[in-house]
Amino acid sequence: MADSIRWFDTVDSTNTQLMNDKDSLPDRSVYAALFQTAGRGQKGNRWESRAGENLTFSILLKPACIAVSEQFILSQIVALGLLDYLAGEGVTATIKWPNDIYVGDRKICGTLIENTLSDGKIAASIAGIGLNMNQREFDPSLPNPTSLTLQTGKSYDVKEELPRLLSCCFRYYDQLDSDYARNGFDAAYLARLYRRGAWHFFEEMPSSDIPTEHRSGLRIEARILGIDTKARLLLEHRDGTLRAYGFKEIKYVL
Ligand code: BTN
Repeated sequence: MADSIRWFDTVDSTNTQLMNDKDSLPDRSVYAALFQTAGRGQKGNRWESRAGENLTFSILLKPACIAVSEQFILSQIVALGLLDYLAGEGVTATIKWPNDIYVGDRKICGTLIENTLSDGKIAASIAGIGLNMNQREFDPSLPNPTSLTLQTGKSYDVKEELPRLLSCCFRYYDQLDSDYARNGFDAAYLARLYRRGAWHFFEEMPSSDIPTEHRSGLRIEARILGIDTKARLLLEHRDGTLRAYGFKEIKYVL
């Protein structure tokens, strides 16, 4: 269970607030908001979510001993927990590496994980999660959103759902120090990876400071083989070339 959930009616960003307060809070503290005025997404984007309709929250993790090189394990824990929660609602979802949760080709959830490092270890990690719950209409600029209600036809009480979702994530977090975590999360994660194994189009992105969604790259056909030891996406090109890509180096063509 979460040590504590603090609900805000309105806050700028649960990630930002938790980052400010992290030193005085214990492992597994949770900040959740009915509305964020400055919700943050990946790659400097904003995260928009209608007031009261969705889950927008952040979990503070202070793991005993995770090396910087192992930090992807926290992303795996959160993603696997989210998938288990959705499965409990009858929704089969997949992990679109590195941070999104998809139902079919539609995004239901995004995560923003911000780590503080000290002496080569993770001192604190803030896992921010935006899960579309009851929202039915989205900004037309979003290419492919969905929500739990659009998938199931039900409506959800976000304050009731959050503890259940957290226990799904903490079930994995509890195993962090076990052998299973070191060897087993990879297999579980891979088995649920969006578009793994089949041929799809991607864009290879030249390095640039401009966000990937605002520029185009070289179109390639490839299939996802998995994730390498540096948590990069490992692709096999049609000509047999294998290449690993960092977050900003590859874009899915949806
Ligand atoms: C993304 O897909 O771009 C990541 C979105 C992460 C949004 C969540 S909502 C709760 C937490 N607070 C924030 O400001 N961002 C994360």
